[in-house]
Amino acid sequence: MNILVIGSGAREHAIIKALRRSPQNPFLYCCATTCNPGIRQYTKEYWIGDICNVGVIAHLAQQWAINIAIIGPEAPLEQGLADVLKQNNISVIGPPKKLAQIETSKAFTRDLLKKYAIPGSPLYRSFSELSGTKDFLQTLGEGNYVIKANGLMGGKGVKVAGDHLHSMSEAYQFCEELQQTGQSFIIEEKCVGQEFSMLCFCDGNSLVPMPLVQDHKRAFINDEGPNTGGMGSYSDANHRLPFLTEKEVEQAQHINEAVMEALTAEFRERYVGILYGSFMATRNGVRLIEYNARFGDPEALNVLAILESDFVAICEAMIGGKLQRSHVQFANLATVCKYAVPEGYPDSPVKNQLIDVSSVQNLEQLYFAAVNDERGGLYATGSRAVAVVGIAETLSAAEKLAEIEINRIKGKLFHRCDIGTSELIERRVRQMKELRECYV
Ligand code: AMP
Ligand code: GLY
Repeated sequence: MNILVIGSGAREHAIIKALRRSPQNPFLYCCATTCNPGIRQYTKEYWIGDICNVGVIAHLAQQWAINIAIIGPEAPLEQGLADVLKQNNISVIGPPKKLAQIETSKAFTRDLLKKYAIPGSPLYRSFSELSGTKDFLQTLGEGNYVIKANGLMGGKGVKVAGDHLHSMSEAYQFCEELQQTGQSFIIEEKCVGQEFSMLCFCDGNSLVPMPLVQDHKRAFINDEGPNTGGMGSYSDANHRLPFLTEKEVEQAQHINEAVMEALTAEFRERYVGILYGSFMATRNGVRLIEYNARFGDPEALNVLAILESDFVAICEAMIGGKLQRSHVQFANLATVCKYAVPEGYPDSPVKNQLIDVSSVQNLEQLYFAAVNDERGGLYATGSRAVAVVGIAETLSAAEKLAEIEINRIKGKLFHRCDIGTSELIERRVRQMKELRECYV
């Protein structure tokens, strides 16, 4: 069995580690834009280049006799890598371009939910010009809107009232900026509550949810500072989150199932891959924030770290359209993931600084992201550098393990020491309780 992983972040390192645990002992290959030393040590071939060059990747995959390709990031999905690989008779974990619109086009997703009467969308409207924007912003009201570029913008395309937009005129200005760059965009109602990620294995006929995870996008403790790729995340031993009710979990599950069915109905093609719903629990129930057509980073680290089943067998079941809940077993353990990132990240990170991970004890739970070892030592290149995952019976014990390990990493780095702590989680639980009590 030859398996190709596309991408070289900590998410792909987690995918590689899960594949290595498979009793099928697959040969591993990687195509990526950078060399991740954590991944490279386990791969038979490691190609560095443009992962959106779908023709080259398909050619390499043929040359290497790849059986299954797992696409990590969204950009190659948008470029139709899954389509081209399938045309070359290579099975793929990752949807074709048309179905990947669930991530690559915010308007497509909102319109799909509307067309199939799927609950969970905030009030929204799509725009390709400025006409009507002022009126709609006013309809939503000051402080109550979010403006989103339609396409992939690497996390820079979303501005939220109160956080990034402080007046109607700033909001209008952002609409103007998007319109001038030829971007269509949506304006939607701002939701208030707690965000959570529900990732599912999906074979186009059925979905199997993974443990729920909460990511932390803000750079600094107490959710302050600029948005990042995600500073860390946690999941609980019962695969739920302490601030969610069972009804909220069911609502999110229902939305995911309805979306998978809507995608199949729309395109008459199976969605094979990861369907990752990003939701917010609000006082009026669960709202869909966005979809991703891939594993989350850092969420993949939490869930794959406790996956007990054979990941290769799960991939084969997804590809064959025969996925069942019984194929997918996760340990009943809590996980806390923390990223160490360069000082100054994300706005002006120090770059190419030597770091030292030699004191980390549990190497199986050490994940490399933006680091290279081309000059001998390990250098952090500027984005999220390395992550650790603590695994234990309780969240609080998992957090302590993660904190001890991350403090063993030396260099010009920082991390969020609050992720997974009882104090932070209790605050989330309190906020949701207060919101629900406000319900009228
Ligand atoms: P997205 O790229 O759609 O996930 O948006 C990035 C971030 O913006 C999300 O993680 C949320 O924190 C925030 N966001 C997006 N949409 C909304 C919304 N309707 N209400 C409140 N916050 C939102
Ligand atoms: N956890 C955020 C993302 O993967 O997009």
